[in-house]
Amino acid sequence: MYQPHTHCRACGLGKPGAQGIKANATNSLIPVFDLGIQPLANDFCGPYEERAGYAPLKVLLCPRCKLAQLSVVVRPEILYAKYSYVTSNSDTMVKHFDALDKVIREETDGRRLLEIGSNDGRMLAFFQSRNMVVCGIDPADNLAAVARSQGLRTITGLFDPHTASIAAAEGLPDVVLARHVFCHVDDWKAFINCLSLVSHPETVIGIEVPHAHDMLERGEFDTIYHEHTSYLSIRSMQALLEDSPFRMFRVEHFPIHGGAILLLLRRKDSNNVGCSIEHHLESEQVDESAWKSFSLRARENISSLKEFVSTQRANGKSVCGFGASAKSTVWVNACGFSRKDLLFITDTTLHKQWKLSPGTDIPIVDEGAILRELPDYAVCFAWNFRNEILEKNALARSKGVKFVFPIPELEIV
Ligand code: TYD
Repeated sequence: MYQPHTHCRACGLGKPGAQGIKANATNSLIPVFDLGIQPLANDFCGPYEERAGYAPLKVLLCPRCKLAQLSVVVRPEILYAKYSYVTSNSDTMVKHFDALDKVIREETDGRRLLEIGSNDGRMLAFFQSRNMVVCGIDPADNLAAVARSQGLRTITGLFDPHTASIAAAEGLPDVVLARHVFCHVDDWKAFINCLSLVSHPETVIGIEVPHAHDMLERGEFDTIYHEHTSYLSIRSMQALLEDSPFRMFRVEHFPIHGGAILLLLRRKDSNNVGCSIEHHLESEQVDESAWKSFSLRARENISSLKEFVSTQRANGKSVCGFGASAKSTVWVNACGFSRKDLLFITDTTLHKQWKLSPGTDIPIVDEGAILRELPDYAVCFAWNFRNEILEKNALARSKGVKFVFPIPELEIV
């Protein structure tokens, strides 16, 4: 189901024979965070369906380029063949697409866009409505089919030489976007090689990833799960690009998903040099001491939520979860919750409903359950959509349902 991962996928540290470095105690990766053995965060199954299984959830830090990565890589066929994560169609997301469009327009007039990891085509549809000629690549059959049914050109498969060549044959894109895909990828050198296949010298490549600096600073430990094999910093991206055909020419920060960075790359043979990104590197704090404080804080947050739920249950109060995000799986399993603790978790995603939260017996139900059941507390596991969720639940809140946000510190609203 998974393979151990022992070398740095950005700078090669610990890889036997790489750049003359031999793996030994002084140049090996450092363990910095450990949640033990955990289920796969998006493995939503019915009560009698076979589950994919469990794997260690442990983070190793590269002492040289500061890339953090999981100690194992779960086979992508297991993680992505029937993927239940669907890009949100929330207002927050549409505003984000708008912001991306603005950045792209500042860099190119080109109209051909390729999205790597296009999911159900939500972003493709947005850019198609802005007169772009779009094409997506995605490994999930079920989601690629949804995109195609809406007239959005989608190639089914992982981003590899085969799918890259099919996309390139339709015309080299002026813009390549990969949102929250790169940190799922194991072999970065192969990914970069495929980018070469789909780019001309002026193609603008936008890689959006969660920023390890933000995750550490805000204590967002629930974004650590098996799909995210790496926790990227700008520094480690530079280390990766050192002997590649690409250069990073611009970095943009966005609040989406609890803090993301858009890393913009162009080929080194481009006429457009771009500006310096040095100032971004100076403010980044992603070293071992940042990970130590983060790990301590995560333990405290887990204890706080456990204690809160057990106190409320002991007092006869009802508690549910709101948003069966991948983050919810991390919380629920780190806290050891069962249906006795959380009655249910609501989610708007149809194919998560009537399944169980991975690793537990907690059912996922539709969002109407909040008004039907009027629980005393709803623990919000989609905290990245906080304002939107509070607004849309105004009626339930007026009837006494309190929303609990488990990070940055437990807060009851
Ligand atoms: P998201 O935070 O996008 O990502 P991840 O799964 O990577 O942690 O997931 C949010 C989940 O919450 C998603 O399954 C949709 C759900 N959701 C609701 O059920 N109601 C809402 O109002 C919102 C904003 C999200």
